[in-house]
Amino acid sequence: MELNKLVKLNIWFITLSTVFCSVQPPAISPALLNAPKNIGECMSCKIFVESFKKGLERTSRGKYEGGDAAWEEEKLKKTYKRSEIRLVDIQEGICKDESKYGIQCHHVANKAEDFIEEWWAQNPDESEDLYSYICIDKLKFCCPKNHFGKDCKPCLGDHSNLCSGNGKCRGEGTRKGNGTCLCDTGYYGENCDQCADGYFLSYKDDNKMLCSECHVACLGGCQGGTPKDCVACKPGFIFDTSVGCLDINECEDDKTCTEDQICLNSLGSFACMNCDKACEGCHGVGPDMCKKCAPGYIRDGEYCVIESKAEDVGDISATTRYFTYIGLLITIAILMTKSTSLASIVGVMVMSYIMGAEYYCMINGHQGLVNLTDFDLFQLLRT
Ligand SMILES: *[C@@H]1O[C@H](CO)[C@@H](O)[C@H](O)[C@H]1NC(C)=O
Repeated sequence: MELNKLVKLNIWFITLSTVFCSVQPPAISPALLNAPKNIGECMSCKIFVESFKKGLERTSRGKYEGGDAAWEEEKLKKTYKRSEIRLVDIQEGICKDESKYGIQCHHVANKAEDFIEEWWAQNPDESEDLYSYICIDKLKFCCPKNHFGKDCKPCLGDHSNLCSGNGKCRGEGTRKGNGTCLCDTGYYGENCDQCADGYFLSYKDDNKMLCSECHVACLGGCQGGTPKDCVACKPGFIFDTSVGCLDINECEDDKTCTEDQICLNSLGSFACMNCDKACEGCHGVGPDMCKKCAPGYIRDGEYCVIESKAEDVGDISATTRYFTYIGLLITIAILMTKSTSLASIVGVMVMSYIMGAEYYCMINGHQGLVNLTDFDLFQLLRT
């Protein structure tokens, strides 16, 4: 009876601890990862057209391969090529291999259905530009190259060198945007033909210009890429006639950080890091970098270590631990009345657990229950 109860209690504990230990952040649902992205109608249309072309390819060899006589096969192939059956075959597979943009692809497929049938009925050459027909002319989702906006107007600026090759026309190829230049980083101007703040002209010929980034030490502009070429120096740098903008080593000044901190210099800046709590002043981070040990700590080789094991730390945890041990010992006692061999097995396990726990507490500076060297487990078990 009692044994049963104990077993049940144990199972309950194990379940509880398993539950607590296995709590994990909820996984992101796959549906969320596959949520439709806003890629725009023109892009969706491109994807649809690509999918349709794949369908044309897939069905290009006809349905009646390896059939009857060669002349018959040839005839059937010709019929199939322009048949409604083939169109249905293509449309059955449409957007199927578009796992990422399937939703967008299907959206276009629905809208394009009538136009596709028209196109198919006109018996076009397969090489005819389906993209222009569907996406530009019929659905009006896209524009021809270098055109933009509702009415597909030509992009603004010089078409032989749009945005100086350093940007792109806003809305290019789509029904969106306003045709002005969206410059790449480092460039600005109506035609992206000027260097942005913090960049300098590093190359220029008749049809190409390049801007490069100024040195990190520069504030605002520069004439070249070195710290000497800066128009002005950033905070944290000082102008030096031979070097140009030179990093200030703030840590050379003892007063930059407090006594209990260490100073770390970096390009254009510095940081104050607190010394280890075992230190009173330090040369670096860690209890082995102390100038002097803090009150309550003593030197042990390189390290400053705690002087006396703090007796009050872990008082509460010690009490709980002792109650756990008592509980376990009672368990063994009860088991002893049922089965001596089982009790000794459990006894060994419990003792190893207690010794392990106490050893762990000891090396972590908590107050131990017993002096482990005095403790003879086997003697206890033999009695
Ligand atoms: C064009 O659009 C961009 C961004 O949407 C905007 O910043 C800019 O002012 C517009 N230009 C004109 C001329 O409308």
